[in-house]
Amino acid sequence: MLTGILCTFDINGLARLYPLTNTHLRDFLRTRRSIRRFKPDPVPDSVIREILHTATFAPSAHNRQPWRFVMLTDPAAKKRLSDSMLEEFQRDLEKDNLPPEKIAKLVDRSRERLTGAPVVIVLCVDMTEMDAYPDTRRRKAEYIIATQSAANAGMQLLLAAHAERLGGVWVCSPMFAQETVQKTLNISKSWEPQAIFLLGYPDETPVARERKPLEEVVKFI
Ligand SMILES: Cc1cc2nc3c(=O)[nH]c(=O)nc-3n(C[C@H](O)[C@H](O)[C@H](O)COP(=O)(O)O)c2cc1C
Repeated sequence: MLTGILCTFDINGLARLYPLTNTHLRDFLRTRRSIRRFKPDPVPDSVIREILHTATFAPSAHNRQPWRFVMLTDPAAKKRLSDSMLEEFQRDLEKDNLPPEKIAKLVDRSRERLTGAPVVIVLCVDMTEMDAYPDTRRRKAEYIIATQSAANAGMQLLLAAHAERLGGVWVCSPMFAQETVQKTLNISKSWEPQAIFLLGYPDETPVARERKPLEEVVKFI
């Protein structure tokens, strides 16, 4: 069913018109997959900017837009980030007493993924413009609200990448190495790393991961 014509404006203010059907949108939303293997082809800067621009249209609490992004395409910068995070990852795995071969395998796989993606985007949350509360309960709630808002931008970023026929995956490892990521990227202490998005042209077609039936995850009242 044609639900209308979608008119969007790109970052340069140029209008684009699309026929928009509910089936198109449903298929679009249901066909996004996490992509972890990428072709080495670079992604044009203009495409990355469009994706980041679209991500900023996500809803956020009080419209404070607490998301911050660090975008890396330089192989040396990606390697620096990967090396520093993986050092910490390895230390954590050693503390877990995993066998050395298993640790090496996990670290190598992460290194391959992080350095093999043409684009690496670090998503951070910045609390400086959020509401400040005197009590712990509301401070905690406000922090969660800010991270929920930043996560919305992350989801929108993945969908925007999907719209550009790029593949991407959400990687949560910076949550386990926040200070290391801040130091390596030389970013302000107020930019708290939340996730990494690996993006590029897909070099795999993963099967859809199974979804729980609605009855299991929804209470209909
Ligand atoms: C908060 C969050 C953290 C994730 N962290 C990782 C990760 O560290 N490594 C990874 O390979 N995938 C990660 N994923 C991707 C999930 O594994 C993936 O979304 C899930 O298996 C469903 O597959 P699909 O995205 O293809 O539908 C993460 C996804 C989310 C939302």
